Amino acid sequence: MPSLDLDAYPLEKLANQVGTPFFLMDGGDVRRRLARLEALTDGPALQARYAMKANSGWKVLETVRGAGLWIDAVSGNEVLRARRAGFPMGATPPVVMLTVDVLRDNALTTVLEHGVLPNVGSPGMIDELRGSGYRGPIALRVNPGFGHGHVQSCDTGGPSSKHGVWHEALGDLRERAAAAKLPIASLHAHIGTGPQVREFDENMRKLVDVYADLLPKFPDVEAVNLGGGLPHPYRPGAPEYDLAWYRPVLVDAAARLAKVAGRPIRIEIEPGRYPVAGAGLLVCRVKDLKKTNANAKGPGHEFIMVDAGFNDLVRPAMYGSYHHISIVGKGAGRAPQPFVVAGPLCESGDVFTRDDRELLDPRQLPRPDVGDLLVLHDAGAYGAAMSSNYVSIGRAAQVWWDDGKATLVARRETLDDVVRAECDERLG
Ligand code: LLP
Repeated sequence: MPSLDLDAYPLEKLANQVGTPFFLMDGGDVRRRLARLEALTDGPALQARYAMKANSGWKVLETVRGAGLWIDAVSGNEVLRARRAGFPMGATPPVVMLTVDVLRDNALTTVLEHGVLPNVGSPGMIDELRGSGYRGPIALRVNPGFGHGHVQSCDTGGPSSKHGVWHEALGDLRERAAAAKLPIASLHAHIGTGPQVREFDENMRKLVDVYADLLPKFPDVEAVNLGGGLPHPYRPGAPEYDLAWYRPVLVDAAARLAKVAGRPIRIEIEPGRYPVAGAGLLVCRVKDLKKTNANAKGPGHEFIMVDAGFNDLVRPAMYGSYHHISIVGKGAGRAPQPFVVAGPLCESGDVFTRDDRELLDPRQLPRPDVGDLLVLHDAGAYGAAMSSNYVSIGRAAQVWWDDGKATLVARRETLDDVVRAECDERLG
């Protein structure tokens, strides 16, 4: 069930203050989720990183730092945002790790300037690091040959995954790293959630087996990382992942891998969505209702037209992801009927109620009045972070709710923000 109780927030007042659509993050809820991760990784050999790609807002990062988690960044700018939020740089300890499939933009210079641990996702990166003059430790991202994400486009392990170095090619990579004098200090894999809730800890146990086989060949390794992928229950009635299932995997891994290696091995995890998905809402306004009638092409539908689109929350359009929907306002108590919820973009896929085959999936909702608010739940992960400037609308405002008080932590983008990088500079 969606975890936030909408009665706790003055949504209409906030909507009038900052306009719609806007994201709301509940700081107390983020802290409660982070506290669960702290308990999960309690102990000297265990460490959680936050995969900041899920939500890299400054207030989220500040809260994550307060909870003692480290960071998994996936771009040079993510490293620099972590730095702005006060995370220490350098590799001793490697509080910020930079996991990349491809070094682009400022990724390499960030490693060189700030000494963060580069997590090598492709063999050629060793040569790039060497050529750049980097002489520090590296992590190695392994594709162990199994695992998959929660949706097909998040394929994280196996022959069709682009991530990491294929497990059978690690010997070659070890030699390349040794020749480049880059000690491999950490082994990493992120193999994803899988559709069944208990598949996650089964996969993690298999991954520990892989590391147990690998460790004797990697004498400099101090840490292994089991990746992220802690499941979040988006659908009402979906089984909630119990961290008590995962804790023994981590504790056993620390003991077993230390024994295999003959030295302490830190066990890292790096959840992204877990601490933030359920703590965020996307609040939009119902602008209209309209109907199509059945004809030879298919059945008719009734549409709720809202002012948020896939430029704000792309998950339903991109993966057919389910986000629970509530109506706040006059219509809230009415009997449910099937509605398609659609946004303002000039693309028919700009619909929040779709299935993963891209088909409309009408949702039972109370009939709203025009002017009511419509809330998309569980929008705290990969919501604002994946929002775009498509059709030049500008990204939505972000509100942080804490202790009964609201703070605007990102204002709505204006036209000036949208065109800020445009220029007219002659080249060559
Ligand atoms: N570590 C690495 C190396 C990753 O690539 C990811 C996610 C994570 C950790 C965190 O995974 P999480 O705990 O959030 O599942 N945009 C998609 C999710 C893409 C995940 C990509 N990698 C979505 O909206 O569901």
